[in-house]
Amino acid sequence: METTKALSCAIMMCFLIHMADSFCRPYPSTGNNPSNCTYKGVVVALNSTHTDYNICTEITCQADGSMFICGIGINAGRSLPPDGCVTIKGDKCERKVVYANDHTKECHSMEPILG
Ligand SMILES: *[C@@H]1O[C@H](CO)[C@@H](O)[C@H](O)[C@H]1NC(C)=O
Ligand SMILES: *[C@@H]1O[C@H](CO)[C@@H](O)[C@H](O)[C@H]1NC(C)=O
Repeated sequence: METTKALSCAIMMCFLIHMADSFCRPYPSTGNNPSNCTYKGVVVALNSTHTDYNICTEITCQADGSMFICGIGINAGRSLPPDGCVTIKGDKCERKVVYANDHTKECHSMEPILG
């Protein structure tokens, strides 16, 4: 019984983490007959995908100029760090949870929360 419970719990966690990793939303075209996509000043060619690590966003530009905007890493969903810890932007937007009073030490008991 306990094993089944733990297993379904683990599957749920995987599911939540997966959801958080691929949080995308559609974004309309910015003009008539556009020759590219522009999102927050980032220009992306039609029919291509660009990952911008400054804004931690993956931008997929479709043929008609509409986009899919996906948050990556710290920008994918929200998380609630444990008491005394904070979330900071790591290498390539990686979500890093560190002690509030010492950013060089990582906190390990993070509970992901979707927002
Ligand atoms: C992007 O498209 C806009 C509007 O169609 C155009 O004014 C601009 O020159 C294009 N930028 C690039 C880099 O192609
Ligand atoms: C984008 O892809 C569509 C469908 O494959 C194609 O018809 C269109 O010509 C492509 N546009 C560009 C700018 O590559």
